[in-house]
Amino acid sequence: MGAMPDKILVTREIPEAGLRLLADFDVTVLAERPPTRDELIEAVRGASGVLSTATEKMDGEVMDTAGEGLRVIANMAVGYDNIDVKAARQRGVVVTNTPGVLDETTADVAFVLMLAAARRLGEGERLLRAGKWEWWGPKQLRGFDVWGKRLGVVGLGRIGQAVARRGRGFGMEILYHNRSRNGEAENELGARYLDLDDLLRESDFISIHTPLTDETRHLMGERELGLMRETAVLVNTSRGPVVDEAALADALEDGRIFAAGLDVYEEEPKVHPKLLELENVVLAPHIGSATIETRDRMATLAAENLRAVLGGEEPKTPVES
Ligand code: GLV
Repeated sequence: MGAMPDKILVTREIPEAGLRLLADFDVTVLAERPPTRDELIEAVRGASGVLSTATEKMDGEVMDTAGEGLRVIANMAVGYDNIDVKAARQRGVVVTNTPGVLDETTADVAFVLMLAAARRLGEGERLLRAGKWEWWGPKQLRGFDVWGKRLGVVGLGRIGQAVARRGRGFGMEILYHNRSRNGEAENELGARYLDLDDLLRESDFISIHTPLTDETRHLMGERELGLMRETAVLVNTSRGPVVDEAALADALEDGRIFAAGLDVYEEEPKVHPKLLELENVVLAPHIGSATIETRDRMATLAAENLRAVLGGEEPKTPVES
């Protein structure tokens, strides 16, 4: 008799492209919706590998419930703030994520939000659908140009650089702030490094691309929003808690900044009630990587990482810890 196949927990229904790669394991796939904490705890018992998504909190308790046989948590996301990486390291559990396969797709959504917020697309569509569009008007729904403006990228990693390249295509001048300077990107994108306060003062558009860490939580608070121009637009496609949502809602309501475009929220799927009432914010339901092609790539990479670790090999994209 051969050895029993390893038990794998896949915490959500994921694209077939990923599941196919796990066919020779004993796989449990939970539902399309996120599992409750109790469901996760119950299902993880005895798992050697977990393929998780950003909606599951993978902490020491979950790892201990899985038991000593747990060897890998493969997150189907580039962000891994949902995983207690330190707890994983202490238990000898390898953590992997999916960098590199969603950069362009997420950058597209950052640009969608930037354009839609600047050109008041959501507001216009709501007007039209409500049957309230009566005529073309010389002063109607005037926004701001995007082309030729200054784009401030906060976090010039892979996604930030993909956004900056799009900005170049729109004839924009690129400013950036990052933990460390990136000379290569400065040359390639003609990007100018500034400290965060100066970037906020000088940019017409600000797009956030940092991971969520203790250092970046509420990076954009009331003070920072106060440094932005009255005509500026803020876009966040990274993680909700990087922006103080209540402070942002106040700044938008008071016209201290022109508009915002958000794909992520502090307490998803909840959105600050004030934001839901404001016309000058475009709200997307965390769809940065949501294309058929990219979700296939993410599921594939997560499954490959999981297979690699259980097969005693190096995973393609381990989280550095
Ligand atoms: C999605 O939010 C991701 O981090 O990939």
